[in-house]
Amino acid sequence: VTEPGWVDVEHYLTDVVVRPDPAHKRALTSAVEADMPAIEVAPNAGKLLRMLVQMSGARRVLEVGTLAGFSSIWMAQGLPDDGRIVTCEFLQKHADVARANVDAAGVGHKVDIRVGAALDTLPTLVGQESFDFVFIDADKENDSNYLDWAIRLGHPGTVIVVDNVIWDGAILEPERDEVNAPGIVAMLEKMGQDPRLDATAIQTVGSKGWDGFAIARVR
Ligand code: DHB
Ligand code: MG
Repeated sequence: VTEPGWVDVEHYLTDVVVRPDPAHKRALTSAVEADMPAIEVAPNAGKLLRMLVQMSGARRVLEVGTLAGFSSIWMAQGLPDDGRIVTCEFLQKHADVARANVDAAGVGHKVDIRVGAALDTLPTLVGQESFDFVFIDADKENDSNYLDWAIRLGHPGTVIVVDNVIWDGAILEPERDEVNAPGIVAMLEKMGQDPRLDATAIQTVGSKGWDGFAIARVR
């Protein structure tokens, strides 16, 4: 399904423009060694997240779906030294790998990993200082629930990014993936219709195949 040209071009762009540092490479290696799925964002997307965090001036980031902490490292690097990223991870094993990775990257003091189902963790964040930037990259079935929480835990101006909104085109053929595609579609429709949001969506190709991300801003 993946065109080799896309992957070669992505590797070129990563080497020449993105230039990941050793902490990013360590996170990828550790995930392979721990037999974790290689479903983290590509380095060019990770750096986009870091730049969006910086450009939005975010001080508090919420992430749903930590995995090995690859995107967490990128986003934490975009925060000021007293900034904070709260990242929700379902599996303790993944959280342990991520903890080691964010610490090794020198950003551990900014990263608060919460283990458990995000839908259990998110309600505990009500009443804390609100979040300026939210990255949703977990079980796609719950994408629209996570979007709801992002709005609730955000404020006017909060930037919300959702990964994997194309799902190899299955969003238009939901019978190909009856669990994930309908969740993604429900989230996209909500993003487009919710009067509290302004939103767009971008398709991408590369090492992660045909996919994309959606970006919304809370009005
Ligand atoms: C899968 C999940 C992701 O978040 C991703 O970016 C790619 C694949 C998956 O569950 O297969
Ligand atoms: Mg993803």
